[in-house]
Amino acid sequence: MTPDNRVWPLDAKMFLSGYGGAGPLSYPVVFGTSGVGTIEELDEGVTGLEVGYRATQRREGTWQPLVICNAKILARIGDLSFEQAVLIDYPLQTAVVVFNLFLRTGEPNTGKGAVGSYAVQYAKNTNICQVGHTVIATASSRDVERQKGLGASEVIDYKAPNVVDHLRSLGSYKYLFTASGDSTSQKALTSLLQAQGGGQLDHNVNRVYQAFSQAVQRDQYSESRAWWCKDYLLKVLRGNLVEPVKFTKPGRGLTALHQASTEVFEGKISGRVVVNPQE
Ligand SMILES: NC(=O)c1ccc[n+]([C@@H]2O[C@H](COP(=O)([O-])OP(=O)(O)OC[C@H]3O[C@@H](n4cnc5c(N)ncnc54)[C@H](OP(=O)(O)O)[C@@H]3O)[C@@H](O)[C@H]2O)c1
Repeated sequence: MTPDNRVWPLDAKMFLSGYGGAGPLSYPVVFGTSGVGTIEELDEGVTGLEVGYRATQRREGTWQPLVICNAKILARIGDLSFEQAVLIDYPLQTAVVVFNLFLRTGEPNTGKGAVGSYAVQYAKNTNICQVGHTVIATASSRDVERQKGLGASEVIDYKAPNVVDHLRSLGSYKYLFTASGDSTSQKALTSLLQAQGGGQLDHNVNRVYQAFSQAVQRDQYSESRAWWCKDYLLKVLRGNLVEPVKFTKPGRGLTALHQASTEVFEGKISGRVVVNPQE
Protein backbone atom coordinates (compact mmCIF):
# COMPACT_ATOMS: atom_id res chain seq x y z
CA MET A 1 0.00 0.00 0.00
CA THR A 2 1.26 3.54 -0.75
CA PRO A 3 0.58 5.69 2.30
CA ASP A 4 0.10 9.34 3.31
CA ASN A 5 1.08 9.78 6.96
CA ARG A 6 -0.02 12.03 9.77
CA VAL A 7 2.47 12.93 12.52
CA TRP A 8 0.55 12.37 15.74
CA PRO A 9 1.74 13.24 19.26
CA LEU A 10 2.14 9.47 19.78
CA ASP A 11 4.48 9.21 16.77
CA ALA A 12 6.56 12.16 17.94
CA LYS A 13 6.84 10.69 21.47
CA MET A 14 7.86 7.27 20.13
CA PHE A 15 10.35 8.73 17.67
CA LEU A 16 11.98 11.33 19.90
CA SER A 17 11.72 9.87 23.40
CA GLY A 18 11.33 6.12 22.86
CA TYR A 19 7.83 6.16 24.41
CA GLY A 20 6.51 2.61 24.46
CA GLY A 21 3.00 3.22 25.82
CA ALA A 22 1.32 1.84 22.71
CA GLY A 23 3.53 -1.26 22.72
CA PRO A 24 7.22 -1.93 23.44
CA LEU A 25 9.68 -0.65 20.84
CA SER A 26 12.17 -3.15 19.48
CA TYR A 27 15.01 -1.43 17.59
CA PRO A 28 15.72 -1.12 14.70
CA VAL A 29 12.19 0.16 14.16
CA VAL A 30 10.22 1.96 11.45
CA PHE A 31 8.07 4.63 13.10
CA GLY A 32 4.63 5.95 12.17
CA THR A 33 1.34 4.60 13.49
CA SER A 34 -1.27 5.61 10.94
CA GLY A 35 -1.58 6.26 7.26
CA VAL A 36 -3.87 6.29 4.28
CA GLY A 37 -3.28 5.15 0.73
CA THR A 38 -4.11 2.98 -2.25
CA ILE A 39 -3.87 -0.82 -2.32
CA GLU A 40 -1.11 -1.80 -4.77
CA GLU A 41 -1.11 -5.57 -4.31
CA LEU A 42 -3.14 -8.19 -2.42
CA ASP A 43 -2.04 -11.46 -0.91
CA GLU A 44 -3.80 -14.66 -1.95
CA GLY A 45 -6.99 -15.31 -0.07
CA VAL A 46 -7.81 -11.69 0.85
CA THR A 47 -11.49 -11.07 0.28
CA GLY A 48 -13.58 -7.88 0.25
CA LEU A 49 -10.71 -5.69 -1.04
CA GLU A 50 -9.35 -4.94 -4.51
CA VAL A 51 -6.19 -3.39 -5.93
CA GLY A 52 -6.88 0.34 -6.29
CA TYR A 53 -9.12 0.58 -3.23
CA ARG A 54 -8.34 3.57 -1.01
CA ALA A 55 -8.21 2.99 2.74
CA THR A 56 -6.80 4.14 6.05
CA GLN A 57 -4.56 1.75 7.92
CA ARG A 58 -3.44 1.64 11.53
CA ARG A 59 -0.23 -0.20 12.17
CA GLU A 60 3.29 0.55 13.22
CA GLY A 61 5.85 1.29 10.50
CA THR A 62 3.86 3.61 8.24
CA TRP A 63 6.77 6.04 7.70
CA GLN A 64 7.96 4.37 4.51
CA PRO A 65 6.99 4.54 0.83
CA LEU A 66 5.27 1.13 0.71
CA VAL A 67 3.59 -0.55 3.67
CA ILE A 68 2.45 -4.14 4.19
CA CYS A 69 -0.85 -4.11 6.11
CA ASN A 70 -3.16 -6.54 7.79
CA ALA A 71 -6.24 -6.58 5.54
CA LYS A 72 -8.48 -6.80 8.61
CA ILE A 73 -7.57 -3.30 9.78
CA LEU A 74 -7.99 -1.44 6.50
CA ALA A 75 -10.93 0.97 6.58
CA ARG A 76 -12.17 1.94 3.13
CA ILE A 77 -12.63 5.64 2.38
CA GLY A 78 -14.12 5.54 -1.13
CA ASP A 79 -13.11 8.58 -3.18
CA LEU A 80 -12.79 10.87 -0.17
CA SER A 81 -9.73 13.02 0.58
CA PHE A 82 -6.65 11.17 1.82
CA GLU A 83 -5.77 14.03 4.14
CA GLN A 84 -9.19 14.29 5.82
CA ALA A 85 -9.41 10.51 6.16
CA VAL A 86 -6.05 10.16 7.92
CA LEU A 87 -6.69 13.21 10.11
CA ILE A 88 -10.13 12.05 11.25
CA ASP A 89 -9.64 8.26 11.50
CA TYR A 90 -7.14 8.13 14.38
CA PRO A 91 -8.51 10.66 16.91
CA LEU A 92 -12.14 9.80 16.20
CA GLN A 93 -11.40 6.09 16.63
CA THR A 94 -9.57 6.85 19.89
CA ALA A 95 -12.52 8.80 21.31
CA VAL A 96 -15.08 6.21 20.19
CA VAL A 97 -13.01 3.32 21.60
CA VAL A 98 -12.56 5.11 24.95
CA PHE A 99 -16.27 5.60 25.41
CA ASN A 100 -17.65 2.58 23.69
CA LEU A 101 -15.23 -0.23 24.58
CA PHE A 102 -13.52 0.91 27.78
CA LEU A 103 -15.94 3.18 29.62
CA ARG A 104 -18.98 1.43 28.15
CA THR A 105 -20.97 4.63 28.15
CA GLY A 106 -23.33 3.47 25.44
CA GLU A 107 -23.50 2.05 21.97
CA PRO A 108 -23.35 4.30 18.92
CA ASN A 109 -25.96 4.01 16.22
CA THR A 110 -24.37 5.46 13.51
CA GLY A 111 -11.24 20.28 23.39
CA LYS A 112 -9.92 21.90 20.14
CA GLY A 113 -7.58 18.98 20.47
CA ALA A 114 -8.30 16.26 17.98
CA VAL A 115 -9.12 13.50 20.49
CA GLY A 116 -10.82 15.85 22.96
CA SER A 117 -13.09 17.43 20.37
CA TYR A 118 -14.29 14.08 19.10
CA ALA A 119 -14.74 12.89 22.65
CA VAL A 120 -17.05 15.84 23.35
CA GLN A 121 -19.09 15.16 20.22
CA TYR A 122 -19.25 11.45 20.86
CA ALA A 123 -20.26 11.64 24.49
CA LYS A 124 -22.94 14.18 23.69
CA ASN A 125 -26.02 13.54 21.61
CA THR A 126 -24.85 14.89 18.25
CA ASN A 127 -25.01 13.74 14.69
CA ILE A 128 -22.08 11.32 15.08
CA CYS A 129 -23.59 9.44 17.99
CA GLN A 130 -26.38 9.11 20.49
CA VAL A 131 -24.61 8.46 23.77
CA GLY A 132 -26.35 11.38 25.45
CA HIS A 133 -24.25 12.48 28.41
CA THR A 134 -23.88 15.96 29.88
CA VAL A 135 -20.34 17.02 29.00
CA ILE A 136 -18.16 19.44 30.98
CA ALA A 137 -14.96 20.26 29.06
CA THR A 138 -11.75 22.19 29.63
CA ALA A 139 -10.13 24.01 26.70
CA SER A 140 -8.20 27.12 25.71
CA SER A 141 -10.22 30.32 26.15
CA ARG A 142 -10.14 30.81 22.37
CA ASP A 143 -11.80 27.44 21.88
CA VAL A 144 -14.69 27.81 24.31
CA GLU A 145 -17.44 28.70 21.82
CA ARG A 146 -16.38 25.95 19.42
CA GLN A 147 -16.48 23.32 22.18
CA LYS A 148 -19.97 24.50 23.15
CA GLY A 149 -20.97 24.19 19.50
CA LEU A 150 -19.72 20.58 19.56
CA GLY A 151 -21.97 19.79 22.53
CA ALA A 152 -20.26 20.70 25.82
CA SER A 153 -22.67 22.20 28.38
CA GLU A 154 -19.88 24.07 30.17
CA VAL A 155 -16.38 24.85 28.95
CA ILE A 156 -13.75 26.01 31.44
CA ASP A 157 -10.52 27.74 30.45
CA TYR A 158 -7.86 25.23 31.47
CA LYS A 159 -5.41 28.06 32.26
CA ALA A 160 -7.76 29.70 34.79
CA PRO A 161 -6.30 29.63 38.34
CA ASN A 162 -9.37 28.02 39.93
CA VAL A 163 -10.06 25.44 37.22
CA VAL A 164 -10.12 22.42 39.57
CA ASP A 165 -12.45 24.12 42.06
CA HIS A 166 -14.70 25.15 39.20
CA LEU A 167 -14.78 21.58 37.88
CA ARG A 168 -15.49 20.23 41.35
CA SER A 169 -18.41 22.62 41.80
CA LEU A 170 -20.00 21.27 38.60
CA GLY A 171 -19.65 17.55 39.64
CA SER A 172 -20.09 14.86 40.56
CA TYR A 173 -18.86 12.95 37.52
CA LYS A 174 -19.39 9.49 36.22
CA TYR A 175 -16.40 9.62 33.84
CA LEU A 176 -13.27 11.79 33.83
CA PHE A 177 -11.16 11.75 30.69
CA THR A 178 -7.97 13.64 29.84
CA ALA A 179 -7.31 14.11 26.12
CA SER A 180 -4.40 16.53 26.30
CA GLY A 181 -1.60 14.30 27.58
CA ASP A 182 -0.17 17.01 29.88
CA SER A 183 0.70 16.82 33.56
CA THR A 184 -1.68 19.69 34.48
CA SER A 185 -4.73 17.76 33.36
CA GLN A 186 -3.51 14.58 35.07
CA LYS A 187 -3.06 16.45 38.34
CA ALA A 188 -6.54 17.94 37.95
CA LEU A 189 -8.02 14.45 37.54
CA THR A 190 -6.14 13.20 40.58
CA SER A 191 -7.41 16.08 42.66
CA LEU A 192 -11.02 15.55 41.58
CA LEU A 193 -10.84 11.82 42.26
CA GLN A 194 -9.28 12.31 45.68
CA ALA A 195 -12.08 14.63 46.66
CA GLN A 196 -14.52 11.88 45.81
CA GLY A 197 -12.54 8.83 46.86
CA GLY A 198 -10.00 9.71 49.58
CA GLY A 199 -6.18 9.75 49.41
CA GLN A 200 -6.06 6.53 47.39
CA LEU A 201 -8.41 5.76 44.57
CA ASP A 202 -11.61 4.53 46.14
CA HIS A 203 -12.99 1.06 45.40
CA ASN A 204 -15.59 2.63 43.12
CA VAL A 205 -12.97 4.36 40.91
CA ASN A 206 -11.48 2.48 37.96
CA ARG A 207 -8.30 3.84 36.40
CA VAL A 208 -8.12 3.15 32.66
CA TYR A 209 -4.79 3.94 30.92
CA GLN A 210 -4.67 2.24 27.54
CA ALA A 211 -3.44 2.53 23.99
CA PHE A 212 -7.03 3.16 22.92
CA SER A 213 -5.87 4.07 19.45
CA GLN A 214 -4.52 0.54 18.86
CA ALA A 215 -7.28 -1.39 20.62
CA VAL A 216 -9.30 -2.58 17.66
CA GLN A 217 -6.19 -4.20 16.19
CA ARG A 218 -6.61 -6.85 18.90
CA ASP A 219 -8.71 -9.84 17.95
CA GLN A 220 -10.82 -9.58 21.11
CA TYR A 221 -12.33 -6.43 19.58
CA SER A 222 -12.81 -7.88 16.09
CA GLU A 223 -16.51 -7.00 16.08
CA SER A 224 -15.78 -3.32 16.78
CA ARG A 225 -12.98 -3.39 14.22
CA ALA A 226 -15.28 -4.74 11.52
CA TRP A 227 -17.89 -2.10 12.36
CA TRP A 228 -15.27 0.67 12.18
CA CYS A 229 -13.56 -0.54 9.00
CA LYS A 230 -16.59 -1.58 7.00
CA ASP A 231 -19.24 0.86 8.16
CA TYR A 232 -18.65 3.66 10.59
CA LEU A 233 -15.62 5.59 9.26
CA LEU A 234 -16.98 5.75 5.73
CA LYS A 235 -20.37 6.87 7.09
CA VAL A 236 -18.75 9.69 9.06
CA LEU A 237 -16.58 10.81 6.12
CA ARG A 238 -19.31 10.57 3.48
CA GLY A 239 -21.87 12.32 5.66
CA ASN A 240 -19.47 15.13 6.64
CA LEU A 241 -20.47 14.31 10.21
CA VAL A 242 -17.35 15.92 11.66
CA GLU A 243 -15.90 19.23 10.58
CA PRO A 244 -13.00 19.21 8.08
CA VAL A 245 -9.56 19.45 9.71
CA LYS A 246 -7.10 22.21 8.75
CA PHE A 247 -3.66 20.81 7.96
CA THR A 248 -0.25 21.58 6.53
CA LYS A 249 1.70 19.44 4.08
CA PRO A 250 5.36 20.46 4.19
CA GLY A 251 6.48 18.54 1.08
CA ARG A 252 9.98 17.01 1.09
CA GLY A 253 8.54 13.51 1.66
CA LEU A 254 9.97 11.43 4.49
CA THR A 255 12.75 13.96 5.11
CA ALA A 256 10.11 16.33 6.59
CA LEU A 257 9.33 13.89 9.41
CA HIS A 258 12.13 14.84 11.79
CA GLN A 259 11.29 18.54 11.88
CA ALA A 260 7.53 17.89 11.93
CA SER A 261 7.92 15.45 14.85
CA THR A 262 10.09 17.90 16.78
CA GLU A 263 7.53 20.68 16.35
CA VAL A 264 4.67 18.39 17.42
CA PHE A 265 6.72 17.14 20.39
CA GLU A 266 7.51 20.69 21.53
CA GLY A 267 3.90 21.81 21.04
CA LYS A 268 4.90 24.36 18.38
CA ILE A 269 2.51 23.15 15.70
CA SER A 270 -1.13 24.00 16.12
CA GLY A 271 -2.19 22.68 12.70
CA ARG A 272 -2.03 19.02 11.68
CA VAL A 273 0.90 17.82 9.58
CA VAL A 274 0.50 15.34 6.74
CA VAL A 275 3.55 13.87 5.01
CA ASN A 276 3.50 12.09 1.65
CA PRO A 277 6.35 9.52 1.59
CA GLN A 278 6.14 9.27 -2.22
CA GLU A 279 7.43 12.85 -2.64
N1 LIG B 1 -4.24 6.61 24.75
C1 LIG B 1 -4.41 6.70 23.44
O1 LIG B 1 -4.75 5.70 22.77
C2 LIG B 1 -4.23 8.01 22.75
C3 LIG B 1 -4.66 8.15 21.42
C4 LIG B 1 -4.52 9.38 20.78
C5 LIG B 1 -3.90 10.43 21.45
N2 LIG B 1 -3.44 10.24 22.72
C6 LIG B 1 -2.78 11.33 23.45
O2 LIG B 1 -3.74 12.37 23.63
C7 LIG B 1 -3.08 13.62 23.63
C8 LIG B 1 -3.81 14.57 22.67
O3 LIG B 1 -3.68 14.12 21.33
P1 LIG B 1 -4.29 15.02 20.12
O4 LIG B 1 -3.94 14.34 18.86
O5 LIG B 1 -5.73 15.31 20.41
O6 LIG B 1 -3.38 16.34 20.29
P2 LIG B 1 -3.76 17.84 19.96
O7 LIG B 1 -4.64 17.89 18.77
O8 LIG B 1 -2.46 18.58 19.93
O9 LIG B 1 -4.62 18.31 21.20
C9 LIG B 1 -4.11 18.68 22.44
C10 LIG B 1 -5.01 19.84 22.91
O10 LIG B 1 -5.06 19.83 24.32
C11 LIG B 1 -5.27 21.16 24.73
N3 LIG B 1 -4.81 21.22 26.11
C12 LIG B 1 -3.56 21.26 26.61
N4 LIG B 1 -3.59 21.21 27.95
C13 LIG B 1 -4.91 21.12 28.31
C14 LIG B 1 -5.60 21.04 29.56
N5 LIG B 1 -4.91 21.05 30.72
N6 LIG B 1 -6.94 20.96 29.54
C15 LIG B 1 -7.63 20.95 28.37
N7 LIG B 1 -7.03 21.02 27.16
C16 LIG B 1 -5.69 21.11 27.15
C17 LIG B 1 -4.45 22.01 23.77
O11 LIG B 1 -5.07 23.25 23.62
P3 LIG B 1 -4.25 24.59 23.20
O12 LIG B 1 -3.29 24.17 22.12
O13 LIG B 1 -5.31 25.50 22.70
O14 LIG B 1 -3.56 25.07 24.42
C18 LIG B 1 -4.54 21.18 22.46
O15 LIG B 1 -5.49 21.73 21.60
C19 LIG B 1 -1.62 13.34 23.25
O16 LIG B 1 -0.83 13.32 24.44
C20 LIG B 1 -1.67 11.96 22.63
O17 LIG B 1 -0.45 11.26 22.75
C21 LIG B 1 -3.60 9.06 23.39
